Amino acid sequence: MSAKHVCVSDFEVEARKVLPKAVYDYYSSGAEEQTTLADNVAAFKRWRLIPRVLRDVSSVDLSVSMLGHKLNMPLCVAATAMQRMAHPDGETATARACRAMGTGMMLSSWATSTIEEVMSAMTSSPGNGDGVLWLQLYIYKDRELTLSLVRRAEEAGYGAIFVTVDTPYLGRRLEDMRNCFKLPSHLRLSNFSSDSLAFSEGDYGNDSGLAVYVAKAIDPALRWDDITWLKKNTRLPVIVKGVLTGEDASRAVRYGVDGILVSNHGARQLDGVPATLDVLEEVVEAVKGGCDVYLDGGVRRGTDVLKALALGAKAVFIGRPVLWGLSCQGEQGVTAVLQLLRDELTLAMALAGCRSLSEVSPSLVRRVDLASRM
Ligand code: FNR
Repeated sequence: MSAKHVCVSDFEVEARKVLPKAVYDYYSSGAEEQTTLADNVAAFKRWRLIPRVLRDVSSVDLSVSMLGHKLNMPLCVAATAMQRMAHPDGETATARACRAMGTGMMLSSWATSTIEEVMSAMTSSPGNGDGVLWLQLYIYKDRELTLSLVRRAEEAGYGAIFVTVDTPYLGRRLEDMRNCFKLPSHLRLSNFSSDSLAFSEGDYGNDSGLAVYVAKAIDPALRWDDITWLKKNTRLPVIVKGVLTGEDASRAVRYGVDGILVSNHGARQLDGVPATLDVLEEVVEAVKGGCDVYLDGGVRRGTDVLKALALGAKAVFIGRPVLWGLSCQGEQGVTAVLQLLRDELTLAMALAGCRSLSEVSPSLVRRVDLASRM
């Protein structure tokens, strides 16, 4: 890496320089006016940390048990599609970095590496912990095809299915529409054999190619019953990705999910929805301990992770920061981003007086308007 990176945005600055414009635009964009994109980040600044002192913080333990796996930290990698546009090693580099850091990676259905090769990259790489892979699932109109992805993940040893429920259609990402975004010709969505489903061939017209692809292939008719269908068809834990209200969260618990990922898809779907941090408490309250709650969206610093944990998330996921690290220097870049956030979180916990995640509680945070009255 050419420059010194002391925060996540340093990686983004360099990534922007090295990536082709259409790729950077695809990775960075939110939907429409990008109101929610900015708000996801801004929401963390509406909370203050309330530290405790004199608590012997000479060692801080970040380990967490998640979906039956012990991870070295409560910070995991969210599904982001088409990682080989960032670096020739793509998802395999990200998997090796996750293994090195002992954390979890959610592989996108739209990966440019196969389910099997990403697993083999993770398991053949030296690790500092277990590392675990989960599959992010888009439910296609073709249900047999959808279940074949699930089967392959089960057989390869993936630990859970994160089913994305916020994408019946693709959000309007204006730069992708202007760029008529499609995959570079040497790449394809590697988990599909037919060229049209691999997004490598076809007529995408004068529009975002991905929006056209989604309209053709992804099932917009999904309902809660489909969660039951998915659960019946896999022995893996099922987590719903893309819940933003307490009502949907308690419904998800009634449908027997193993976890809820509070997510607005990195602000790429419906613009104008709340920042994920702003709905986290509502979801945690509604779930009443019925399943794990996770969060993604706008996490850029260790203090952001700490705030989300204090408000009830069991772990958080990052999307774009991983793509920036990958663009800058492949596996080493992703490891550097994960290590940076890990270091920031460790320091934040120590300075806040928390020795382990069990000591992170809602009393650690206060909304800015209330904090100023202390
Ligand atoms: C995504 N996200 C996503 N989600 C999903 O369920 N399947 C996918 O294939 C993708 N692909 C994808 C590509 C890119 C370029 C981005 C930025 C995001 C959403 C992702 O899993 C996650 O919800 C957000 O990225 C989290 O927000 P941050 O960390 O990027 O702010």
